[in-house]
Amino acid sequence: MKVLIIGNGGREHAIAYTLKKSPLVTEIHAMPGNPGIATIGTCHNGSVEDLEGILALVEKENIDFTVIGPEVPLCLGLADLLESHGHKVFGPTKHAATLEGSKAFSKDFMARHNIPTAAYKEVNSYDEAVAALKDFSYPVVVKADGLAAGKGVVICEDEAMAVSTLKEMMVDGILDGAGSKVVLEEFLTGFECSLLCFTDGKTIVPMVSAKDHKQIFDGNKGPNTGGMGTVSPNPFLPEGMEDVFEKDILDPFMEGLKKDNMDFRGVVFIGLMIENNKAKVLEYNVRFGDPETQVILLRLESDLFEIMQAVSSQTLDQVDVKWKEDHVACLVLASGGYPGDYEKGIVIHGLDNVKDDIIVFHAGTAFNEKGEVVTNGGRVLNVCALGTSLEDTREKVYQASKDIEFEGKYYRQDIGLN
Ligand code: AMP
Ligand code: GLY
Repeated sequence: MKVLIIGNGGREHAIAYTLKKSPLVTEIHAMPGNPGIATIGTCHNGSVEDLEGILALVEKENIDFTVIGPEVPLCLGLADLLESHGHKVFGPTKHAATLEGSKAFSKDFMARHNIPTAAYKEVNSYDEAVAALKDFSYPVVVKADGLAAGKGVVICEDEAMAVSTLKEMMVDGILDGAGSKVVLEEFLTGFECSLLCFTDGKTIVPMVSAKDHKQIFDGNKGPNTGGMGTVSPNPFLPEGMEDVFEKDILDPFMEGLKKDNMDFRGVVFIGLMIENNKAKVLEYNVRFGDPETQVILLRLESDLFEIMQAVSSQTLDQVDVKWKEDHVACLVLASGGYPGDYEKGIVIHGLDNVKDDIIVFHAGTAFNEKGEVVTNGGRVLNVCALGTSLEDTREKVYQASKDIEFEGKYYRQDIGLN
């Protein structure tokens, strides 16, 4: 089978690496891919938003199965387009992807299907938003309705900050169209946890737990990033939460999909806030998380391609999804300055020096004219290792991170500890 992976991050490299292990997969293609994926497959130039271009590539290369990594093409309807031309796809339809593409849509879904979440109000104009603030206490959470590449959620400490945030989003348009509608939300306390699941719309299979580290600095300080590292299993998850997740979060989610006639065949990544052993949904993502996927897929024992095919053909109930007992860590090596401004094009040294038990996924990398691998994004590389314990896997990734050098290299020291 020829498989095409849409995207160019560490998540997509991890998907390519895992699919490559399947005896059913004969060729890996990626669009646009990255230098890491290029070592195991063929990368094609193009934009993940160019749906017609992707359809043309699928037909030209006789692709048997397409895996869609990022949310943008899913929300634009890439799965619908490919399926309408008879092509097999892993990823939800545009309708189902709206669970990530619109905060108001997903809150309405949660409210109608009795899924625990923060109290909220959808507002459609600046005046309406400011008037609605009286119904909330502080801090209040202001969420742009549309996709905003991680910049659409602001926790506002007081009324002045809430008013200025609403003005920026709804009047000044700093997020373009994404902020013309806003969700105001009650601030929840507790600790965050991500729950990733395979679903074919009939059956839902949770994956092993993972802990992301969103802030840039140690001790969970500083601005949010796309994720600075992950460990699996999540060392902070209290015992017995799986049952709570199933009853309070997953069962009503599946009921909701059925009642709303939503065709969801892919991964749902549920952001949760947990307090006193109760979980509330912060958000739905309709795709694999990055860098959660890197650690989770390294623990997958079953054949990922078999699972993806079963999801696509709605036979997930017939697959036994098995996981390894190992601990895994993923350390993100970032460009100095990220998540603010940073330089690109810096040559990366030492990629060939890493030991055999280390897996390095490429995220923000590119080739320069000389064919050298250079930095090309904020999160540059993901250094991963399997181990017998959290300490063991941490030691391996921190040791290996010293072998890879580029000017300005930055990473957190406390992945898995805080
Ligand atoms: P979201 O994209 O909705 O998950 O929001 C991004 C981040 O904002 C989450 O990972 C949380 O850290 C924070 N957040 C979102 N909603 C809330 C809330 N209601 N209460 C507290 N923190 C929140
Ligand atoms: N790691 C967070 C995300 O993928 O959205």
